[in-house]
Amino acid sequence: MARLVIVSNRVPNRDEQAGPRAGGLVAGLADVLAPGTLWFGWSGQRADVTSGAVREVEQAGITYGVMDLGDADYRAYYLGFANGTLWPLFHMMPALTRFEREEYTAYRAVNRAFAAALMPLLRPDDVIWVHDYQLLCVAQALRELGVTNRIGFFLHIPFPASSLFEILPPARELLAALTAHDLIGFQTESDREHFLHAIARLHVPGADLACRTVVTPAGIDPAGFAALAARASRRVEARRVVESLVGRALMIGVDRLDYTKGLPARFDAFGKFLARYPAHRRRISFLQVAAPSREEVDRYRALREELDNKVGAVNGAYSDFDWVPLRYMARTVSRGLVGGLYRIARIGLVTPLRDGMNLVAKEYVAAQDPTDPGVLILSRFAGAADSLTDALIVNPLDVDGMAEAIERALTMDLAERRARHAALLAAIEKTSAAAYCRNFLAALVAVGRVAPPPLRPASD
Ligand code: G6P
Repeated sequence: MARLVIVSNRVPNRDEQAGPRAGGLVAGLADVLAPGTLWFGWSGQRADVTSGAVREVEQAGITYGVMDLGDADYRAYYLGFANGTLWPLFHMMPALTRFEREEYTAYRAVNRAFAAALMPLLRPDDVIWVHDYQLLCVAQALRELGVTNRIGFFLHIPFPASSLFEILPPARELLAALTAHDLIGFQTESDREHFLHAIARLHVPGADLACRTVVTPAGIDPAGFAALAARASRRVEARRVVESLVGRALMIGVDRLDYTKGLPARFDAFGKFLARYPAHRRRISFLQVAAPSREEVDRYRALREELDNKVGAVNGAYSDFDWVPLRYMARTVSRGLVGGLYRIARIGLVTPLRDGMNLVAKEYVAAQDPTDPGVLILSRFAGAADSLTDALIVNPLDVDGMAEAIERALTMDLAERRARHAALLAAIEKTSAAAYCRNFLAALVAVGRVAPPPLRPASD
């Protein structure tokens, strides 16, 4: 039976079971992998140079192979080209996009180093699945080393409109590198269309390329997360939140502290809501958890300062002796506890300016008590909006529109909340993590008609 080999820049934090969230990619995959899988990636550690030495650790039947990144590579590949160039550009924010040729060169070299370090671990019938924008060129490097295994790629973030993608100096080279995969997967139809359009406009050769793409939205394990949330809502921290509410509704936002998440406008919208609906003041408490991320990138530091100011402005204007409208925690909260907070929250606010999928939206839905569920407010520019059409859909730039949605969510009657929640739950069950992996791997093996590698027995 073929073995599955996952390759991603970030691998799960193996030291802490329910530990800090590293983002959707890791959270979505970790729940469904069968014993025997090899997961290869960056250790999260830095060394003097990228030596390519691999440490292997086994946990719960999964083998993790990790390597360190040299300091200069960490800066040029990770902070530089991956998160200073590709991340903003793919989220369609050209004004925040920088380009340094040296960083791009380092990015390609690190992708080659990943390939060279992985190569000796590979078996002839392994099925290789590479993930996300940090590793666009690993498959091409593997092919150059003579690897003929089946290789799939999945992009967790959006693929930008081709007119934006083209501003990248090595646009064509990167597309050519992607064609080294047998299958390329996207979160939404629009991402796939953008990719195929870019391929056509830049005249990138590649036979049957359209047939070698697939749309498989990433998901969560709804039943598993619901159980975790129910347990976590009884934890002492969750009970403290409930006690602090004294009859008020909790609204919650949980994000990495990232400029794509739309946090400044979200805070403005909450301020606008308090200004426009004075009767609701004191009846709501907004808790925003923002996990610090990529702090060595300037734009992330600037965002943190901007948010500090906005929180001060809202609380300065509306706080009362016994009421703080906006509680803002710029730190990591464990996934286990977050589930409990979702369950307590009457409103889940997910308003990214642009997002590949956004699993927080799905987790918020899964965590609700179906007999008395909360309301999801969701940006139309999150990939999740394609399937979660029964959320209150908002434009994340429209501060007034978001203020109105908060009012609507807060006053929504039980029957409507239940009906919307049932539809949302059905949608996240249909696009679960298990379905995501199954569909992608089925498409990948169909490209060459071999038996699929095993996943855990489906729970959906
Ligand atoms: C997003 C990306 C992932 C990334 C995660 C956390 O979800 O799609 O590839 O791992 O953010 O970011 P970090 O830079 O900490 O790995």
